[in-house]
Amino acid sequence: MRALAELSADHRIFEGLLDALERLLSDEEESAHARVERLLKALRQGLAEHQAAEALLFGSGRKHPSKGALKREHEDLSEVREALDFILESGVEENFSALKETVKHLDERLRRHFKFEEEALWPAMKSDAKLPRKTAAEVARHIRAIARLKEEAAV
Ligand SMILES: [Fe+2]
Repeated sequence: MRALAELSADHRIFEGLLDALERLLSDEEESAHARVERLLKALRQGLAEHQAAEALLFGSGRKHPSKGALKREHEDLSEVREALDFILESGVEENFSALKETVKHLDERLRRHFKFEEEALWPAMKSDAKLPRKTAAEVARHIRAIARLKEEAAV
């Protein structure tokens, strides 16, 4: 299993979701509310799956030269997910005009996460993670869930 390639593919899916969100928010059309909400939910759920897959790959016991940095990236994703929870709980329609700025901020954080992992963290690993079969199956399940979310969000 080429886990890192799969995780990079996840990152591309999230970028697609973020691009679609930005397009919808810049249109500022009332009819965009429902689609924005759907995309935000897909993003939140997808990030939870991605985080779970990363935790399995880089979790306790696995050696990595940048363990601290990996942990920080993981915590950063938790904060983004909390911010998405907040937006969704406050109501997309009610806060539509303020969403643009908030989403822009989250967008920057996520893209930074993708770049940092792909360019700095993962190359520092000696080889692609070789996982026990059960863990690999679990990681694959998370990755399939993200691909499904993308289809459901119709991006
Ligand atoms: Fe990631």
